[in-house]
Amino acid sequence: MDSNNKVLNRVICCCLSVGLFYFLFCMYYAAKRLEVDDWNQRTSQFTAEMWVNDSELKKIHERMTKNAESISPEVTIITAYFNIGTLNKGGPFGQYTPEKYIKWMSVFGRIDNPLIVFTDSLEVEQIFEDLRKHFPPERTQIFVVERQDLWAFSLAPEIKRVFSQPGYPDHDPNTVHENYSCVMHAKFELVNKVIREKRFNTKYIAWLDIGLFRAVVDEKHIFPLKTPPRFDEMKVAYSGQTKFDPTLTPLEIIAGNKVWVGGAMFLGRPEILYIYTQDYMRAVRKLLDKNLMSTDQQVIYIMYQPSFDLQPRVEIQTYTTHGEDDWFYLGYLLKDAWDISLRAAQPAARFMLSFMT
Ligand SMILES: *[C@@H]1O[C@H](CO)[C@@H](O)[C@H](O)[C@H]1NC(C)=O
Ligand SMILES: *[C@@H]1O[C@H](CO)[C@@H](O)[C@H](O)[C@H]1NC(C)=O
Repeated sequence: MDSNNKVLNRVICCCLSVGLFYFLFCMYYAAKRLEVDDWNQRTSQFTAEMWVNDSELKKIHERMTKNAESISPEVTIITAYFNIGTLNKGGPFGQYTPEKYIKWMSVFGRIDNPLIVFTDSLEVEQIFEDLRKHFPPERTQIFVVERQDLWAFSLAPEIKRVFSQPGYPDHDPNTVHENYSCVMHAKFELVNKVIREKRFNTKYIAWLDIGLFRAVVDEKHIFPLKTPPRFDEMKVAYSGQTKFDPTLTPLEIIAGNKVWVGGAMFLGRPEILYIYTQDYMRAVRKLLDKNLMSTDQQVIYIMYQPSFDLQPRVEIQTYTTHGEDDWFYLGYLLKDAWDISLRAAQPAARFMLSFMT
């Protein structure tokens, strides 16, 4: 009798410790996945007075607050594709060709969010119509735009002139291909345009590069993108790629091709993104006036330098694992937000079942 009890006690003890270890492991895993890089302790300068003198912003704010109950808590996704030919980008994976981008687009057929697409290509318009046809029609807006009608592309001759200065840094395509730089600036112009023209009806908006989910083109399931955990509603969320160094000059950032946040995706509330994109476009102007330019990743790093003569009015919140490859981390965090818990629960459920049977 006694020895039986002892064995039973040991078994229970053993199960409890395994359970405890499993629990601790899950906590560790969750903490690791949800790491927020808090380099930036500055609180957002965004205040209620900000729209006192900005009638456009006032309208946006009124729309968000007065109709609060009719605004969906979802995230509107904005993306764009402009055919600027083959890019010398991608390192060991070779060049980025239009065919490659078209393959990457397929993921947008599985993102169950309101989607807004801008493109200069009728072929891409057709591709997106096909990709989205199983969603209700109001969930997708596709706009065919002429590149020359966009502010970002109007900068091409000026950017080309900056890039062709003798001795200018030579990072292909960032400081070489003027149209690539323009496409990057277009993200901010288009997000600003969507907000100004009230083409959304959600509490959050995110920009997504076409290639963001390239690693999951072979998956099949439909998924929603939701806001990341611990999201600061007063800030713009980005993937953090490296630790922020507050001592760099614009030229050091451009010549060193330095990156702080990954530009492939950003997310925020419309009021915040409206100000953020405006400040970004002002920073582009300021850099061109200094005969400097590169891509959005360098512009962002420069505009958040304390020494830069244009200080952005809203702050950035970075999500990172402090790893080498966090370019798309925020994207995966949003994608997985709803099934991380499911996936963590699966082994736990199996573990429990193994006791019951
Ligand atoms: C709004 O404009 C007035 C008059 O130009 C100025 O005094 C005030 O500081 C401005 N307010 C804000 C929040 O910018
Ligand atoms: C950029 O686009 C313009 C207009 O389409 C074109 O003339 C120019 O050659 C392009 N530049 C490069 C580097 O491809």
